[in-house]
Amino acid sequence: MRTSVAFLALLRLVSALDDLNIYTDNSLASGWENWSWNTEIDFSATDLFAGSSGTSISISSGAWAALSFKLGQGTFADYAGLRFEVAGNQPEIQIIFQSTADDSSSPAVPLSEISKTIVGTEFTSALIDFKALPGSGSPLPAGTWDRITFQSFGNGASYHLDNVVLVPEITITPEILSVEPVTSNVVAVTTKGEVDLSTVGIILNGKSVKVSGISNYSPPDTPAKQISYITLASPFAPGTLEFCSLERPSSPTHSLKPRRAGAFPFLTSSVTAGARTPINPLIYGVNFPKSAQYIKTLGVTVSRWGGNAVTAYNGLDGHFTNAGNDWFFENRVANEGSADDWIGWVKGAGSESLLTVPALDWVAKDATSYSYPKSIYPWYEQSRFDPYNPDAGSGQFPNGTAVTPNPDPTTVYTGWNTTSAKNSQAIDNEIEIAHSTHQDMHPEPVGYDEELKRVVDFAVATKEALPGVEVMAPSTCSWWFYWTSAIGWTDTAAHGNVDFLPWFLQQMKLTERTYKKRLLDYLDIHYYFQPDTSKNDDTAKALRLRMTRSLWDPTYVDESWVGTDPQNHQTDPGTVKLLPRMKKLIADNYPGTKLSVSEWSSTNDGDLTGGLVTVDALGIFGKYGLDAATYWATPDEMGPVGLAYWLYRGFGTVFGNWGVPVNVNGLDPNTQGIYASTDNSGKISLVVVNKSPTASQAFDLTGVPAGKYFLRHFGGGAGIAKWQTNVTLSSNRYIVVPPYTAAFLQQQRLDYLSK
Ligand SMILES: *[C@@H]1O[C@H](CO)[C@@H](O)[C@H](O)[C@H]1NC(C)=O
Ligand SMILES: *[C@@H]1O[C@H](CO)[C@@H](O)[C@H](O)[C@H]1NC(C)=O
Ligand SMILES: *[C@@H]1O[C@H](CO)[C@@H](O)[C@H](O)[C@H]1NC(C)=O
Ligand SMILES: *[C@@H]1O[C@H](CO)[C@@H](O)[C@H](O)[C@H]1NC(C)=O
Repeated sequence: MRTSVAFLALLRLVSALDDLNIYTDNSLASGWENWSWNTEIDFSATDLFAGSSGTSISISSGAWAALSFKLGQGTFADYAGLRFEVAGNQPEIQIIFQSTADDSSSPAVPLSEISKTIVGTEFTSALIDFKALPGSGSPLPAGTWDRITFQSFGNGASYHLDNVVLVPEITITPEILSVEPVTSNVVAVTTKGEVDLSTVGIILNGKSVKVSGISNYSPPDTPAKQISYITLASPFAPGTLEFCSLERPSSPTHSLKPRRAGAFPFLTSSVTAGARTPINPLIYGVNFPKSAQYIKTLGVTVSRWGGNAVTAYNGLDGHFTNAGNDWFFENRVANEGSADDWIGWVKGAGSESLLTVPALDWVAKDATSYSYPKSIYPWYEQSRFDPYNPDAGSGQFPNGTAVTPNPDPTTVYTGWNTTSAKNSQAIDNEIEIAHSTHQDMHPEPVGYDEELKRVVDFAVATKEALPGVEVMAPSTCSWWFYWTSAIGWTDTAAHGNVDFLPWFLQQMKLTERTYKKRLLDYLDIHYYFQPDTSKNDDTAKALRLRMTRSLWDPTYVDESWVGTDPQNHQTDPGTVKLLPRMKKLIADNYPGTKLSVSEWSSTNDGDLTGGLVTVDALGIFGKYGLDAATYWATPDEMGPVGLAYWLYRGFGTVFGNWGVPVNVNGLDPNTQGIYASTDNSGKISLVVVNKSPTASQAFDLTGVPAGKYFLRHFGGGAGIAKWQTNVTLSSNRYIVVPPYTAAFLQQQRLDYLSK
């Protein structure tokens, strides 16, 4: 019997507020002030306007400039949203709400999150709901908001606005956004507005299935969307699932394609210590976490202070740094402030810290100097200048080569040596590419011998200053430099044609004899996937999702230049199989050294597939025994990559520290990843990632105990949010994961093990 779904009529709350006009015609509404900058504005433009008569605002902003409105008195915090009409060729702008009382700002809302089809010939209506900001879905935080800023990005923007109004209420049309089967007997329905699911029909293979319960959940940081978990009285089976409501008879439908023969042999009787391999918790690290709360939300285990600006970080006086070629070789106060303070709060939040020690000869001397002023390197000799400081140049001729002569380092730097380097753990960042990122202070390419000498000198100094410290080096930036130096193949040839990393390991082993102690604790590399996924179309997304195989798979030829022109003297040069390869290099050349990846990236922090790649990679890091890893750089905790960390470790509920082998017959690593673990008590956690964009996947988990599990998931039709609930896995252990979804299941009660 198909029953119907009733939609609750939405109550329109009677609001005490009226619309608050900011602009309708000719000038700003009374009570509003013009706080714009670097922007040409016409408040009575007649070339284009919304409606049948009147005027609009025409705006032409330079890079990072803005049209900005300030409410003269009071705040608009009680309004429900901002409505406006916009015309322009998809202007590259973002909208920010600000409080002049306490100088705070809301998260920026890129206009592209509201619409991607804005044209210059007519106006498009836009609405920002303060309960669910476009893009993140998070509410506008509480604040004394009194200013609205339309800021252009780096390319500037020209556009028109009309009818800019704060509205007292926004009516949400109730809507079912997605319906998906998940785990063994739960149908997850995401909704917005007030949808009543008290009477639904679920039909599995043509037969109505009894509903045994419904629980609702709204993620605290995206409360405008809800999920209802509809628990069925009987478990899923292969076939077709239909969800019925009056409005949408038998729609949408889902095919369950079973993968039988899958097995978790380890769990059939008991978990044996012999089958388990340790998972190092330090693999769940990031560079520069935002705050203590961020560390707890995502369960960040190690926080790295790294990147190009760190090479010139002067921690002794003033916490200055130099941006290198990332930003016109300008000095500034380090964004993160004092490294000592940073270590303190990071530790207080429960994370280890990984600090990069400058290992070149100079660090920034102040907050304001820069290496290439116009007075010394005239405008016609330099390719670009800083838009905020037109005197600071790029240090490059228009043809891209470095200007000459090289600047006097003392204009921006002060000397640095091993005496200065105390209280620190890692030995510099990518110094093998210092000649380009820091051409101003180190114009010569760094070769094998110089790199080794710098690592040894600073490792000795650091270990003297902090006896318990562990040293990670050489933090080599990419596949190319794993095997040679910036000098190139002549340098490799001069070192017996031994590729750089094996040579480096051999030399560090020799230094252990000289210094009577280990100077290198971790072989540290950076790993950036080389395949080109920048188009981010379906083909690029599928490539992104399967290229995690380069981390482990001996049969996967890298789908980039690495696969065809691998540039090294190693066996199987084009199959990256990064973790097994590096572990073998260590075993062959300096056994006992740990392995870390202090920079890596999913290749797209904003796309769901970047989050799924991160889930897969973190599973692989654990399974293949990586000792530490830190993501580059700081994933947004609300975005897909942040959610991957939350999935494994959020809010203290963590994937186990013992990896357990999973055997699934015919597992397709291009579209599937399954990782299992136990904690010290034997409680099981599973992470399953379904990388298929369209197909639900089901696994017959022989050996996984029936019983209560805590479920977290993100992606698929449910979207990018922190969804979670409790489920019961029935004894048939047939679990389903929706398309483009990552799920975490953690056993709640060990006494179910025996059942
Ligand atoms: C608004 O401010 C901008 C930037 O200061 C200025 O160029 C513009 O003339 C102002 N417009 C009006 C109408 O005051
Ligand atoms: C780049 O331009 C500079 C200045 O005109 C010149 O000295 C140099 O030879 C050029 N380099 C190349 C590679 O063309
Ligand atoms: C580092 O430089 C300082 C200041 O010039 C000097 O006193 C110190 O001896 C140097 N240390 C080393 C190891 O060269
Ligand atoms: C899951 O169950 C636990 C323990 O009974 C409870 O504390 C928690 O709130 C539940 N979580 C959800 C999302 O329902």
